[in-house]
Amino acid sequence: MSTQTTTPTLVHTREELAAALAVQDVQAVPRSEGRAAHTARPHRRAVVMTMGALHAGHLSLVAKARELADAVVVTIFVNPLQFGAGEDLSRYPRDLHGDLALLSGPGLLGPDDIVFAPDQSVIYPDGEPIVRVAAGAIGDALEGAHRPGHLDGVLTVVLKLMHLTRPDVALFGRKDAQQLAAVRRMVRDLDVPVVVHGAPLVRDEDGLALSSRNAYLSADDRRRALGLSQALTLAAREHAADAIRSTALDTLQAAGIDEVDYVALVEPATFTEVDASYRGEALLLLAAHVGSTRLIDNAPVEVSA
Ligand code: PAF
Repeated sequence: MSTQTTTPTLVHTREELAAALAVQDVQAVPRSEGRAAHTARPHRRAVVMTMGALHAGHLSLVAKARELADAVVVTIFVNPLQFGAGEDLSRYPRDLHGDLALLSGPGLLGPDDIVFAPDQSVIYPDGEPIVRVAAGAIGDALEGAHRPGHLDGVLTVVLKLMHLTRPDVALFGRKDAQQLAAVRRMVRDLDVPVVVHGAPLVRDEDGLALSSRNAYLSADDRRRALGLSQALTLAAREHAADAIRSTALDTLQAAGIDEVDYVALVEPATFTEVDASYRGEALLLLAAHVGSTRLIDNAPVEVSA
């Protein structure tokens, strides 16, 4: 197996991006020529949107994008619109050189792939946009209740990046389960011609869900943060909705996590809380503060009693 590394095309401006996309378009096999005969990949272009500070979870999305499409675009942009006042916008980890080195690793991006790393002035040339995407009811619950406007900010930049990068498929991790559900709903409700692909959440060996924000955790925080994945594991052994929620909360508290934003058991497509009569697969979602770091995690659970 080759261990050769290659470097993707790095672009910062809209003009550079348009030129690099045009190169990808010229190289693409036209659908009319029988795409299936030329390639096993079902899509022409895939986009993976990130805020940088990449980790193995992001790289698994890029590897999947590589499998699904002939050409890949990775966007790296810390979107101010999705951070509330007092959140970590200014200290959010930024490391473009490190990100590029990771993306150039074996089996990931090659010279025909694109990394789009724009400045704020490129994405929002007129300053804060007047017109934004409203996530609606799916954006009011859970993350939306604790981070008002967060999902509107996410959807606004996701739609802009979809317009700018023109993908056939866009990949999002299931770690941000509510974000994924909101993006799916936006694409459906607004007829955006993009297939949304949800990819599995990636965990460290000790169970901690990978997140760029894990970089903020002290050694002691990190030990306590394992309470989130433990809560999901123990709660999944229960059968009734109430027992699932209470086991998760008790486990978080036993791990020394006192500031819990929510423990929610929701219907996966709508993100509405399930009641005692619900049976079937639900999503158990947790958000909690460990030290100065806010973490989220989730897992599917079967409600059977
Ligand atoms: O999941 C993220 O990193 C961000 O919310 C996204 C999708 C890149 C939009 O800024």
